[in-house]
Amino acid sequence: MRRRSFLKAAAATGLAASAGAFLTTRRAAVAQPSEVLAAFPDKFVWGASTSSYQIEGAVTAGGRGPSVWDTFSHSFGKVANGDTGDVACDHYNRYAEDVDLMAKAGMNAYRFSVAWPRVQPTGTGPANAEGLDFYDRLTDALLAKGIAPWPCLYHWDLPQALQDRGGWTNRDIAGWFTDYAQLVAARIGDRAKHWTMLNEPSVHAIFGHGLGGHAPGMTGKGNYFKAIHHQNLAQGMALKALRAAGGGKGWQLGTVLSLQPVWPVGGLDANYAASLMWDAVWNRACLDPLLRGEYPELLRDGFAPLVKAGDLEAIRQPIDFLGINYYSRMHQQPDPAGLFGTGYGSPPEGTPTTGMGWPVEPDGIAEILIELKQEYGNPPVYVMENGAAYPEQTGPKGFVQDNDRISYLRRHMLAGHQALEEGVDLRGWFVWSLLDNFEWAEGYQRRFGLIEVDRQTLERRPKASYHWYADVIRKKGVPTSV
Ligand code: FCB
Repeated sequence: MRRRSFLKAAAATGLAASAGAFLTTRRAAVAQPSEVLAAFPDKFVWGASTSSYQIEGAVTAGGRGPSVWDTFSHSFGKVANGDTGDVACDHYNRYAEDVDLMAKAGMNAYRFSVAWPRVQPTGTGPANAEGLDFYDRLTDALLAKGIAPWPCLYHWDLPQALQDRGGWTNRDIAGWFTDYAQLVAARIGDRAKHWTMLNEPSVHAIFGHGLGGHAPGMTGKGNYFKAIHHQNLAQGMALKALRAAGGGKGWQLGTVLSLQPVWPVGGLDANYAASLMWDAVWNRACLDPLLRGEYPELLRDGFAPLVKAGDLEAIRQPIDFLGINYYSRMHQQPDPAGLFGTGYGSPPEGTPTTGMGWPVEPDGIAEILIELKQEYGNPPVYVMENGAAYPEQTGPKGFVQDNDRISYLRRHMLAGHQALEEGVDLRGWFVWSLLDNFEWAEGYQRRFGLIEVDRQTLERRPKASYHWYADVIRKKGVPTSV
């Protein structure tokens, strides 16, 4: 009942109220006379995140093999408007311009993902040097501008050839992934120091393997359990291998989880069981084995046939930091048609939503950060994705005045600041996303970028939020009011 008591405590202390209500602020030295800033530490990391399939394009360049997302997006009816990542933002060819834009905003870190099918076009075997060359060039370009490269080894674009061998449902993938991780680290690990293994393994398992709305389009609880366990195992084995290979190189090793507090629709005493179940499926199935060496009780029967002797020890590896992605709380209620008998319901009345229909609940990020401190040993944490898509139109002068995004980011950063003041070891923030990009099954219609990308010309146009973020970085602080 740990979770329930935490939720109650959170409600009682006002954590469930709006971020502004419980915010304590301090004046930063650089604040304008009329501006009160929530100041962040000098060493705070400020960056943006992207992922390979969502921005790179150039899907056949440099010997890249096909990924599950190429297959999926080219299958009829899988992605809105028939969009694909064939061109995406053409970042593969335009990376220098993108790095320039990051530098102009003052970012000191960039989280990108490495496309496995560029490095090993069929998923196993020797490295494709040309594929690695791209990440080599990118790494150098970033460092030349004072931006630390933060590679993520896997953001859902599995080589199709491995999918043909069962992909994440085949236990052998843990070894394949470990080999691949070592190839990448051997090439750019002399310059890239911050490594994350997987992006949001639970989301990949739920949508790609349980519900089928994402690549590779598999369905069923059985595939969900396999995809979770084999990703956890792959992550643990790769962490261990890189830990061994990284001696003296100063590598900081971590991984990235999607952690979204789950609340029962209708309040803490209603639909409690449904919320606990979805919390286990989404959050704890990856968090608990990594940090506690165990699967959540509610799911143990499902994992039992897959867990071999030594697996839980292999998964529970020391990490130097945890990356968390936060967008919104999830409000759950019973739903017999749901994968685990639960489904999404409405957030509390009056909660605004983004263009994705996701509730805007900034205090949810403080909730998850404080829980990591109180119940998971306060690991060093980076927010590695946070951002929003809104319907937006280019103004008459070609400028997107995205006030909704600014407000979303500002309120979430303030909630992060509150967590920091409460002793959470929060070390950095990466906005999702640098560029408008291929938003998976939603295609290009959902725009998360600080920078608009013209779909015809691929011209980059910084939005108001880009300039706002640059200001935050320069002042190392977030305005407490607008
Ligand atoms: C996260 C994904 C990222 C992007 C954002 C909106 O779950 O990691 O690629 O799609 O959501």
